[in-house]
Amino acid sequence: MKKPMRVAVTGAAGQIGYSLLFRIASGEMLGKDQPVILQLLEIPDEKAQKALKGVMMEVDDCAFPLLAGMSAHSDANTAFKDVDVALLVGARPRGPGMERKDLLEANGAIFTVQGRALDAGASRNVKVLVVGNPANTNAYIAMKSAPSLDKSCFTAMLRLDHNRALSQLATKLGKPVASIEKMIVWGNHSPTMYPDIRFATVEGKPAKPMLNDDAWYKDTYIPTVGKRGAAIIEARGLSSAASAANAAIDHVRDWVLGSNGKWVTMGIASDGSYGIPQDVMYGFPCTTANGKFEMVKGLEIDDFSRERMNKTLAELEEERAGVAHLLK
Ligand code: NAI
Repeated sequence: MKKPMRVAVTGAAGQIGYSLLFRIASGEMLGKDQPVILQLLEIPDEKAQKALKGVMMEVDDCAFPLLAGMSAHSDANTAFKDVDVALLVGARPRGPGMERKDLLEANGAIFTVQGRALDAGASRNVKVLVVGNPANTNAYIAMKSAPSLDKSCFTAMLRLDHNRALSQLATKLGKPVASIEKMIVWGNHSPTMYPDIRFATVEGKPAKPMLNDDAWYKDTYIPTVGKRGAAIIEARGLSSAASAANAAIDHVRDWVLGSNGKWVTMGIASDGSYGIPQDVMYGFPCTTANGKFEMVKGLEIDDFSRERMNKTLAELEEERAGVAHLLK
């Protein structure tokens, strides 16, 4: 029997948490032979803690053979103690009348505290995935608040956008999703993201000539992928939850177990490649193996792509400037 891995999930009593915990405990994220210990963080609020207890009762009732332990926390320091994986899902949603600046401020307060707690107590190889929005900037804040951890411990979730991009293209081409490779979504998890199909292949052949419809690509596909989150809210009355949890599972599973040479989009700290300034948490194409990710480098960037990549970068730079005072 393998040694259990400790997995922290924040916002564990929320919508995404409810779609996530059961799949982690069943082995879908870390492997069917990997025991897990869940360390669940919620805000100290009595209602949230009670709801968390309820979710834990349900997890118990599944009698998952791989679940080696589970605990509830209201303090990030205890929740993140010795964790191997941390899924930072809980975040402050935008309330009525709240400006973007207020949102950044409120989340800055959460992610500085959580970054410090990871710095103090998590495994030195912890894999952190930030899902809570604004995900890229929250991941940046957590990374900057954890100076003793390697920057590569921190990632932001672009995988939902990547999966949306795959699914929309597959439907348009009438091909199976699994036949598409080398998809990229550059930039911020926001409507400015840039789903780039220039390198994508379908059954090993270039996707762009097969699509042969640049107007659809630019005027329909890119905005549909970018605004999919809003379309889900409009239709469901609630934001994406099961698909977000699914993307989080995909992201961590590939990071831990490897992507077998396939490109996946991860929000990672830039090393300066592709003209993206160092440390900006930006969606890049990556491959993963042996518990590490590697950026796919050397791709040609044409004028259209440069413009789109700069637009989403400008938004991230603005967010970064908005939280700079919290990181002094
Ligand atoms: P939710 O509101 O149902 O649940 C969030 C939970 O987090 C609540 O139970 C809340 O009490 C908890 N929470 C808030 N602050 C916390 C803190 N400091 N520590 C621990 N727990 C805390 O929200 P939902 O639907 O589960 O979404 C969670 C986040 O994920 C939101 O920020 C949402 O915008 C984001 N999201 C990101 C996506 C992505 O692709 N990156 C996709 C979909 C959602």
